[in-house]
Amino acid sequence: MNIKLVKDGTQNSDNNLVVEFMTIGELKENENAKVLQKAGFKAEQDSTCFLYDKNILVCGVDANTVDNIRSASSGAIVEIKKTNYKSATFSVDEKILKGIIEGLILGAYEFTHYKSKPTKSKLKNINLSCSDVKELSEAFEDAIIIAEATCFTRDIVNQTPEDLNPLTFAVLAEKLAKENGLECNILGEKELRAEKMESMLAVGRASRHESKLIHLTYRPQNAKKIISLVGKGLTYDSGGLSLKPADSMVTMKMDKAGASAVLGMIKAVSELKLDVEVHAFIGAVENMIGGDAYKPDDVLVTRSGKTVEVRNTDAEGRLVLADVLDYAQTTVNADYIFDFATLTGACMVALGQYTTGVMGHSHRLKHNISKSANESGELTASLPFNNHLKKLLKSSVADLSNISSKPYGGAITAGLFLDNFIKDENKNKWLHFDIAGSAYTETPWDCNVYGGTGAGVRMMSEFLKSLK
Ligand code: BES
Ligand code: ZN
Ligand code: ZN
Repeated sequence: MNIKLVKDGTQNSDNNLVVEFMTIGELKENENAKVLQKAGFKAEQDSTCFLYDKNILVCGVDANTVDNIRSASSGAIVEIKKTNYKSATFSVDEKILKGIIEGLILGAYEFTHYKSKPTKSKLKNINLSCSDVKELSEAFEDAIIIAEATCFTRDIVNQTPEDLNPLTFAVLAEKLAKENGLECNILGEKELRAEKMESMLAVGRASRHESKLIHLTYRPQNAKKIISLVGKGLTYDSGGLSLKPADSMVTMKMDKAGASAVLGMIKAVSELKLDVEVHAFIGAVENMIGGDAYKPDDVLVTRSGKTVEVRNTDAEGRLVLADVLDYAQTTVNADYIFDFATLTGACMVALGQYTTGVMGHSHRLKHNISKSANESGELTASLPFNNHLKKLLKSSVADLSNISSKPYGGAITAGLFLDNFIKDENKNKWLHFDIAGSAYTETPWDCNVYGGTGAGVRMMSEFLKSLK
């Protein structure tokens, strides 16, 4: 699907469908009101109505906001792809351009890698018609880069745990580094042992795949800020010896979504050519069972020197991140440290499937991030730390337990566990994003289709763009 900006090109024909967005108020005034009413079209958000004899598709929106247009164009493109039209034209202006591009690219996304006969759509060209192509071209290019980086992340998440394991993750990162001119450093288990990353190593011990720590760097000449992005890359989370029940294990290939998002972010930043130095740190590990598996009752010595009593091997992401966060902080002196992780089912219980949980100490940073998230179309909510929840991580045998002693507030206690591995001087520079709910879906919503959503990529690209 080729998308281009064109000047005043809205001719409808048997090959070219013209797409119109319409609110209920606009419906009454529309020249096709009668036939639309006959078809039962009420201009409800995300509803569509084809007027085939006129080669027009009408899409309902509650209001002409970017969020509504993104969602509507996402639903529209799914419908258009089922028809025989070779091209479609949308009218755009500065306000809705980004929403339309994201809706089209993210809504049209399909992961067909494992289909022996993928269905092919006839739709080849999308024309975005505007009055001044030059004026919109930079915003156009940026939106395409960000949407495609989001699809890149989805492609990684959607691959099977057999195809996308810690080794192939590292190979994929090396390929991205080569293509986008990034520095790349990969640590295997020998190097992880030398770094004393026993916590991360313990999680991956029963896997046939060697654990890998991947460090990519985008280093522009005049960097205004330095950012460290850390991603949970559990290429499979069986739960380990605290084995997940069969139904909960399905979809756990998505436990690498944080790491996949971080790769998407550094891809976007390097293509947007932003003046920010970005480091991506990925802990790529598989949590399995076997005679060699780490166990409940083990005590792990983390890279930081703090000891952790393992009471549940399914709370493995925090054990990997403890070491990767510590490594990131000693390797790079960053202005901001953000980690992305499908960390807890509790986050989904607290916020629902659509919203990313944001945790950290700096209210200002949380506020700034939520502004960028809003502008990007991603949903976030702050989950507040407190000292009572913090005490629930106490252990009688080690410095810390890897699970809380009480069953409530699990997303926050997981965030507080990570906080133990954030150095004092970095407390206000760090935020933790729990994307357990938002990273994957089995039912389409907004511009998300079945599978990985690419959660985090649009929000972080927007934030990094906003840094001056
Ligand atoms: N990867 C899971 C969290 C998860 C659950 C992500 C559902 C996406 C969907 C994580 O490693 C995990 O298993 N967490 C446990 C923590 C518990 C043992 C304290 C959980 O959420 O149940
Ligand atoms: Zn787990
Ligand atoms: Zn996990």
